[in-house]
Amino acid sequence: MTLILGLESSCDETAAALVTDGRDILAHRLLGQEAAHTPYGGVVPEIAARAHVEALTPLVEATLADAGKTLDDVDAIAATAGPGLIGGVMVGLVTAKALALAANKPLIAVNHLEGHALSPRLAAPDLAFPYLLLLVSGGHCQLLLVEGVGRYRRLATTIDDAAGEAFDKTAKLLGLGFPGGPAVERAARDGNPKVVPLPRPLVGTADPHFSFAGLKSAVGRARDAGTWRAEDIAASFQQAVVDCLVDRTDRAIKSVRFERSRETRLDDMPSPLLDFARSERDGVTALVVAGGVAANGAIRSALQALAAEHGLPFVAPPLWLCTDNAAMIAWAGAERFAAGLTDALDTPARARWPL
Ligand code: KG4
Ligand code: ZN
Repeated sequence: MTLILGLESSCDETAAALVTDGRDILAHRLLGQEAAHTPYGGVVPEIAARAHVEALTPLVEATLADAGKTLDDVDAIAATAGPGLIGGVMVGLVTAKALALAANKPLIAVNHLEGHALSPRLAAPDLAFPYLLLLVSGGHCQLLLVEGVGRYRRLATTIDDAAGEAFDKTAKLLGLGFPGGPAVERAARDGNPKVVPLPRPLVGTADPHFSFAGLKSAVGRARDAGTWRAEDIAASFQQAVVDCLVDRTDRAIKSVRFERSRETRLDDMPSPLLDFARSERDGVTALVVAGGVAANGAIRSALQALAAEHGLPFVAPPLWLCTDNAAMIAWAGAERFAAGLTDALDTPARARWPL
């Protein structure tokens, strides 16, 4: 059994977790900083970094104690090395380096997006590569073909804002509070999703890219019009996001299948290869959603219906594993460790780090 300690500090969550290569989450702790950022209506990087400094070491000690383990029992130490707010990332990575050096354990520098991308395999043991991943968080909105550990093909991304950013800005515009995603979802329950006319940017275009900036501006205009209740704007906004995500994901599934069917000419295939080729032709094993916005119930059920339409299994991690946490970083560490991937102690923290 391999035991990985994972640290996460790239935004406003300080987190530590102990996860085995057998998918046992022995302990995980998370300390939010909501109260510190609420007065500003968003995450303040400097405040976040200072809070991580204060919180992280006691949190690691508590996580080890929860599992009845010491650093000696750990096989490797994984930490988010980017992308994210650079001050926070540095706190987590430097802490991991210090622990690795002191306990003489290997360091694993994890890309935060890889943490989200592989987290569904922690929750769903049967989920095999390649799968189509819709990664929707506060900083990112991407469609990825996850072909293996360290092998990610980006099919589409947002040309302006991320979906979570749009939720957060909408909440701010409507005075619903912070963090925005859950607040908009709550308000939307009491609203009519059909009543406020809002755009569906890029829907119907050939490449499955995303755009949410125009939608956010339209929310601002709808609010200023003074015609609709905040609940109706929230519900209509959420429906617009659902429609965009579903249309773009549908487009990506179709393009992946088309590409594979062109690559694989079944008629010419010797029969032992035929079954394999047929499964390859389908392109992906499942439709998977991850990242903070994947905690949204309306988005989850719309994607589930889309997967069913295409005859694909649908996988969404439990809510707590969708939003930022350290179990996903420890798990990505376990997957990288199993593949023989560890990192030098001079590995840099990176504010930007495309997958
Ligand atoms: O993955 P995450 O925790 O942090 C990043 O890596 O960005 O995602 C945070 C984002 C925020 O924008 C938050 O508003 C959004 O996820 N979010 C939601 C919900 N819960 C969190 N968006 C919509 N509905 C939710 N229930
Ligand atoms: Zn995240």
